[in-house]
Amino acid sequence: MPLCTWETSFNLEVGVMNEHHQRLVSLINAAYDAIQLNDSHGMVRIVGELLDYATYHFKTEADLMRQCGYPSQASHMEQHGHFFRHISDLQSRLHAREPLHNLEIVIFLKEWLMQHILVTDRELAGYLAANVPAAPEPLPSQDSA
Ligand SMILES: [Fe+2]
Repeated sequence: MPLCTWETSFNLEVGVMNEHHQRLVSLINAAYDAIQLNDSHGMVRIVGELLDYATYHFKTEADLMRQCGYPSQASHMEQHGHFFRHISDLQSRLHAREPLHNLEIVIFLKEWLMQHILVTDRELAGYLAANVPAAPEPLPSQDSA
């Protein structure tokens, strides 16, 4: 059973954020599964992927915040830094060959991410939806004239 099942209530008003969040949740689920299976090689690979993907995702959100002059950018990015440090710490512990059953920090990562999505990212998505102009509607076809 996965650690976290995606629910429609996790969806925000910005599609790219939802895609990224679902990928992060699936990587955290995969890490949890690797712990249950005591698969340390799999765990090293998944945590490396999680670190890379979190870097990519946080950069995407930082770019969105910059582009629209989001007022809470600094505190939002501070939260990203906090999450990133926890994943880095997990990676160091894996490289130090700490037993996987000690790595219940994965549960913390899942709880942190859900809280961040439901509160902090929801605020950001609402701001983006209200302040970034939507793509223009395509012009009507000339053929109908
Ligand atoms: Fe965020």
